Amino acid sequence: MGRFDDRAAIVTGGALGIGGGCARRLAGDGASVLIVDINEESGLETVKEIRAAGGKVELMIGDVANESVAFDMVEKSMSLFGRLDLLIQNAYGGGSDTAGSAVDVTQQAWSKGMDLLVGALYLGAKFGVPAMEESGADPNFEPPVWGGAGRRHGARPRENVGRIVNMSSVHGLLNAPRSLIYESGKAAVIGLTRQMAVDFGPMGITVNAIAPGHIVTERGDEMWNEVGNDAGFKLFEIQYPVRRTGIPADIANAVGFLCSNEASFINGQILAVDGGLSIQLQEDIVMDTKDYIVSNPHLRTHFDNKPEKSDRW
Ligand SMILES: NC(=O)c1ccc[n+]([C@@H]2O[C@H](COP(=O)([O-])OP(=O)(O)OC[C@H]3O[C@@H](n4cnc5c(N)ncnc54)[C@H](O)[C@@H]3O)[C@@H](O)[C@H]2O)c1
Repeated sequence: MGRFDDRAAIVTGGALGIGGGCARRLAGDGASVLIVDINEESGLETVKEIRAAGGKVELMIGDVANESVAFDMVEKSMSLFGRLDLLIQNAYGGGSDTAGSAVDVTQQAWSKGMDLLVGALYLGAKFGVPAMEESGADPNFEPPVWGGAGRRHGARPRENVGRIVNMSSVHGLLNAPRSLIYESGKAAVIGLTRQMAVDFGPMGITVNAIAPGHIVTERGDEMWNEVGNDAGFKLFEIQYPVRRTGIPADIANAVGFLCSNEASFINGQILAVDGGLSIQLQEDIVMDTKDYIVSNPHLRTHFDNKPEKSDRW
């Protein structure tokens, strides 16, 4: 039996990248998955792949920053699968107008960025939480016998009714220069996650966030092939204590755990899945990598196609 048999999941931005990895993981563990994405071509490919592996999956095309799309995706999960249990809020596409400080970015880009980075997560919960409540607890969940020294009073609290996992980033924990929209948005995801954890915990719905480090997705791979080289990629890897960057499956494994019944006492947490990147002291890592950079003057990373490189020294 799969750990998500008889459970239904929505994965936003599930056509590609981290979301694609999450959709494959949840479907592989038995969930019926609804992918919601703006990219039909990649969405259909991922659906084909999941079905070929025996998974249950459907695709809905739509921009999750729109209220009507957020409403429809929840309706669709209820009508197709009869329930909603797991909501993975992952969609984000960036854009050429998102870089810059408060002085640089337009108000239009700011609002559009916040609508997707933060607004879509609010909308997903707004419509998703009542559907999770209506669906009720995992039908296969057997509550363990209480072993709390007789201190448990009254009825058991609701448990394993639903899970929301929001995609933040190490950029929500630490700030990179000239990235106002992304860094503010990903930090807001952390605040929103904690608030929702407090609001929905009593309903048996846990809300957590994941803060991935550098995850090489299909798009990331293209970008590295276009602009970077092996020496540049190694520069990224040596900044990670585990000496590698991530792949979508690393994040999908964490999402799978947070969605499982084993994680029912984990709520409102921000799990950095970054090989230890964000717990290092920056001064030391910069000094350690200096020698590597000096001895590899031809290294190139995807940062080399950023028009606005630092000129502050
Ligand atoms: N890849 C990384 O290194 C990394 C690191 C930290 C956090 N993240 C976060 O993880 C999430 C996924 O990133 P990724 O690298 O897999 O991205 P990606 O570009 O590979 O995939 C994103 C998916 O979201 C879809 N999408 C974009 N805008 C959408 C919208 N408005 N409505 C519906 N779907 C939309 C895209 O079509 C695509 O399928 C994002 O929230 C990103 O900020 C990524």
